[in-house]
Amino acid sequence: MRISRFRQAVMVTIALLLVFALGVPAWAARPIRIGFMAPFVGVYTQLGEDMDRGFKLYLDEIGNKAGGRELQVFLEDTEGKPELGPTKARKLLDNDKVDLLSGIVHSGVAISIRDIVVERKVPLILTNAGAPALTGKLKSPYIFRVSFANGQQDLAGGWYAYHKLGFRKMVVIAPDYSAGHDKANGFMKYFKEAGGTVVEEIYPPLSTNDFGPYLTKIADQGKAIDGVWSFFSGSGSIRLVTQYEEYGLKDSVPFFVIGDTVDDAVLPSMKDAAVGVKSYHHYADTLKNPENEAFVKAYVAKYKTKPGIFSEQGYVGAKVIAMALEAVKGDIENTDAFLAALRKVKFNAPRGPFAFDESQNVILPVHIRRVDKVGGTYQNTVLDTIPDVDQDWSPAKMKK
Ligand code: BEZ
Repeated sequence: MRISRFRQAVMVTIALLLVFALGVPAWAARPIRIGFMAPFVGVYTQLGEDMDRGFKLYLDEIGNKAGGRELQVFLEDTEGKPELGPTKARKLLDNDKVDLLSGIVHSGVAISIRDIVVERKVPLILTNAGAPALTGKLKSPYIFRVSFANGQQDLAGGWYAYHKLGFRKMVVIAPDYSAGHDKANGFMKYFKEAGGTVVEEIYPPLSTNDFGPYLTKIADQGKAIDGVWSFFSGSGSIRLVTQYEEYGLKDSVPFFVIGDTVDDAVLPSMKDAAVGVKSYHHYADTLKNPENEAFVKAYVAKYKTKPGIFSEQGYVGAKVIAMALEAVKGDIENTDAFLAALRKVKFNAPRGPFAFDESQNVILPVHIRRVDKVGGTYQNTVLDTIPDVDQDWSPAKMKK
C-alpha cells in the first residue's frame, strides 16, 4: 500500500514538473499510436510493402517524433480483403488503442471501415485506397486522402490521350472491382467527350494471372483500335505487361496506361517489355525537384532499391500526419484542432505541390511519363505535367 502511494506520488510529481517547470502537458509523456493497415500478401503485396517503407522512412527522418511526442506504428495486414477491414481496424482501436489510422491500398477495405472511423471520431489518413465516395458522397471530417480518388488522374489522362497523343479508338482493360471501373470511367469521360471511341471494355478478375484470353480479344481488333488503356497494379501489372509483349501487341497497339501498370517498383521485373510504354501518374522517381532528389537518395540508401508511386504516398502520408501534429504541438487528444491542422497542410512533396481540396482529397500534378532504359536500368522519364488536378477536374481547368 505504501509503495503504491509512493509510486502515485512520483508520477504526479513528474507530471506536475512537466506541466509547470517545462511547460509540457502531462499527456505529452504518452506516445502517439498510429495504426497502419496494408496488404502484405496477395496481388497488392508490393503496394503494401512500398507504402510501409515510405511511411517508415519519413518517421525515421524525424526521429519518430512529432509535436514533442514519440510516434509508434502498429501494423495490420489487411491481405487486401475488404471482409478483414473491420476486424483489423477494431483490433487496432480496441487492443492497440491507436489514436489514428492510416495506410490502406484496396478501396473495398477503406469502404469497409468508413463507418467505424466516423462513429468513433478517429482520423483516417488514406495513403492509397481511391474509392471516390470517401471524399465524395460518403465524405467525413475524419477522412483524408493523400493519394488520389480513383478516376481523378484518369480524367486528365483521357483528355491527354485524345488531344496530345492522338489516340482515337481504344480498348480499356482494368480489374473487375470498384477501383478498376472508377478509373476506367474517369479515363473514358474526356476521351469520349473529345470524340474518341472506346471499342471494347474488358474487366478481368483482380487476381488474373493469365491475360492470354483477354489479349487474344485485343489482338482480334486488328486495325479497329489504335491504343489500349489499362489499370493493373502490383503482380497483375507484371503479368499484363510481359504477356502484352509475348502476344506481339507491344509494337502494333501502343499502351497508354495509368502509372501503376508500369510503376518504377515493378519495372525491373518487366524488363524490356515495358520500354516505350507511356503512362500518367502523380509520381516518377526521375522528377527533378529538391524534395524528390532527397527522397530518392534516402530511400535508396535505406532500402537499396528505387521508390515507386506507393513508396511516395506512404512518405507523404507520414509527413502530412507529422506536420499536423507539429501544428497542434502534439495535442492529438484535441481531435477538432488536429483535423483543422490536417486540412491546412501544404508543402512541396516529391511529386510536386501538396494540398487538400475542400473534401479532404489531395490536389495533384499529373505527370506524363515514358519507360526508358538508361544505362541498363529502367525508369519513367517525365515528358509533360498537368498541374493542379483535383477530383472534379475538367479540361476547362487547363491553362492554355
Ligand atoms: C484501389 O483499390 O483503390 C486501388 C488499388 C490499387 C491501386 C490503386 C487503387
